[in-house]
Amino acid sequence: MGTADAIVVDRLVKRYGDLTAVADISFSVRRGSIFGLLGRNGAGKTTTLESCIGLIAPTSGTVRVLGFDPADRRDLARLRPRMGVQLQATSLPEKATVGELLRLYGTYYGLRGNPASVASRVGLGDKLDRFAGKLSGGEQQRLALALALQHDPDVLFLDEPTSGMDVYGRHVLWREIGALRSSGKTMILTTHYIEEAEHLCDEICIVQTGKIVARDTPAALVARYGGDASIEFAARGFSVGAALAGLGRWAHDGDRYTLVARGEPGHALAKIVEYANALGVTIAALDLHRPSLEDAFLAITGERIEDPRSEAA
Ligand SMILES: Nc1ncnc2c1ncn2[C@@H]1O[C@H](COP(=O)(O)OP(=O)(O)OP(=O)(O)O)[C@@H](O)[C@H]1O
Ligand SMILES: [Mg+2]
Repeated sequence: MGTADAIVVDRLVKRYGDLTAVADISFSVRRGSIFGLLGRNGAGKTTTLESCIGLIAPTSGTVRVLGFDPADRRDLARLRPRMGVQLQATSLPEKATVGELLRLYGTYYGLRGNPASVASRVGLGDKLDRFAGKLSGGEQQRLALALALQHDPDVLFLDEPTSGMDVYGRHVLWREIGALRSSGKTMILTTHYIEEAEHLCDEICIVQTGKIVARDTPAALVARYGGDASIEFAARGFSVGAALAGLGRWAHDGDRYTLVARGEPGHALAKIVEYANALGVTIAALDLHRPSLEDAFLAITGERIEDPRSEAA
């Protein structure tokens, strides 16, 4: 194990009776980076995370966090103050206020600071006196994150940190997570939001039925699996001349043209516009689609999104 790695998971297996929740997963997370586990419901993301924080014992395989074994009681005791954990379902005492909970958790870690500052970092600055039981779903998520953050841990485990949050809340959190990375924290997070993984993660593992099916930077996954970019437009009187034929695969339906571009689509677009200008043709309804992590995800997992209308039929 290199000391550059904060987390090392080696051949992790977790079985529940006949069910294999995690089937031989290995990965490592560089210090100061954000590592994402992406996969659909039941893929084994939470189980992997729970093994990393010593909440469940692996059936086989090993985990090391900052060199400690979370499955070992003594190691875990030393590790705990250096880990922050936000679980998928945190049950907080309903009749305690946000401020009380932050102070209570703070005391556990020997903190004496003011909970107001961590509360405002997650957008709960004006809710210190609110009962936890009266928080909305997204606010509860923010509180859970504040509780994970306030003892300034080196490694953060975030299980779907923004699920149930509105767009604004998500962006507040993304900014906070970005700031945490800048300050050198290591983070491992799970998410269903592909955009979130693309935005935040230095590296992504795509997990499917307990196995890793792909692992790379978001950009590399898109480049490798995302497919080609395409350009669509409408142009009356347009024709694909010899100068454009080499740009990729062309198709057209009446005045609507589609090019599946070979190489950089911006370059192809410039050529098309130039050509249309020379023809004296106007280009309308232009759409450029660059492959996204979502395209790569669907290609990797081989999962198609069902059209809900076809189910009703
Ligand atoms: N304590 C348990 N006992 C039995 N089966 C379990 C237990 N915990 C998880 N599982 C099963 O293990 C599999 C993986 O679950 P896990 O919670 O790790 O998935 P996940 O990827 O986090 O899914 P989600 O996106 O829905 O949170 C599921 O089939 C789940 O039903
Ligand atoms: Mg989960």
